[in-house]
Amino acid sequence: MAKTVLVSGGAGFIGSHVTVELISAGYDVVVADNMSNCDMTCFEGVKKITGREDLPLVKMDFCDAEAVEELFTTYKIDAVIHFAGFKAVGESVYEPLKYYGNNLTSFINVIETSRRHGCENILFSSSATVYGEPDKSPVTEKSPRKPATSPYGNTKQICEDILRDSVKAYPEIKGIALRYFNPIGAHPSALIGELPRGVPNNLVPYITQTAAGIRECLSIYGNDYPTPDGTCLRDYIDITDLAKAHVYAVRRMLEGKMEEEYEIFNIGTGKPVSVMELVTAFQKANGIKLNYKFAPRRAGDVTAIWADPSLANKKLGWKAERTIEETLKSAWDWQLHLDKTLGRK
Ligand code: WQD
Repeated sequence: MAKTVLVSGGAGFIGSHVTVELISAGYDVVVADNMSNCDMTCFEGVKKITGREDLPLVKMDFCDAEAVEELFTTYKIDAVIHFAGFKAVGESVYEPLKYYGNNLTSFINVIETSRRHGCENILFSSSATVYGEPDKSPVTEKSPRKPATSPYGNTKQICEDILRDSVKAYPEIKGIALRYFNPIGAHPSALIGELPRGVPNNLVPYITQTAAGIRECLSIYGNDYPTPDGTCLRDYIDITDLAKAHVYAVRRMLEGKMEEEYEIFNIGTGKPVSVMELVTAFQKANGIKLNYKFAPRRAGDVTAIWADPSLANKKLGWKAERTIEETLKSAWDWQLHLDKTLGRK
């Protein structure tokens, strides 16, 4: 009997890619999402990619404890991957209560209900943002977390602590936190990908929209950083590689392979890439000349951060495989799909 994994926030960018990989790995999946930050595009794409026209999508809010209870009563859940939450760094500064209320309440509901229903395995979608501006890179899981630079980043730190303290207090559950670096790209089918609302904050969707003529010109925020080419360094992780890391982590939990009741893994490539290098790679991978200019630094940006992924490589048996060119080609193919089929501008 296949194990069932609940993917909360599963109709979104990362959740939809994780759902595809879970299904292809033989798991049953229940997708639950309040659809507040996505439409049906990715969920429909997941059904096409997997051929699972019957894939359940429960439209619900994880802040509603009764709805969460109803979900766990309806489905026998063996593991939860928790994505549901607000994630716009900038917005969180202006709407801190919205972020603390939503992101913490939803996660607490998931843990409490999992316990009540015998679901022992909880995987939390965390972020490298918990490291802030690291003293040095690559960062390991033991690198110190820095005071969060946004309420969004703080909710990630607090949720990690909620999971850590819960598995310590409640022996019937165990947890893994995956700290993603910069997820980019789209599924090779171009049927699912990132769907930013309004003007994209993140680099790659802004690049693809500029290449598509939706945006006039890419502003590169700062070329006077103390880095080889003056632009910021990040660890850009392909979304499909990232999604596969979740399958490896869920398998580790379900097969009883965990060595501690709470484990943290950095999910990155271990390779720093600058903004300029990424722009150059995008142009080369897609044969496109991108319109860009150098602009002043963006407040809150860290100069450089990239992962030491050796713990995930060793303990999960997972490693990033796709090249940055392959990833940037998938991002462009997705943009073309959007522009062609959805007339999205
Ligand atoms: C990357 C680099 C920008 C846009 C954020 C969140 C993090 C996580 C990933 C959720 C920076 C530069 C960007 C543009 C640019 N999200 N840039 N022009 O800021 O590293 O991380 O997304 O978990 O929590 O903080 O990603 O893509 O916004 O920026 O020059 O139009 O690209 O200055 O150096 P970031 P990003």
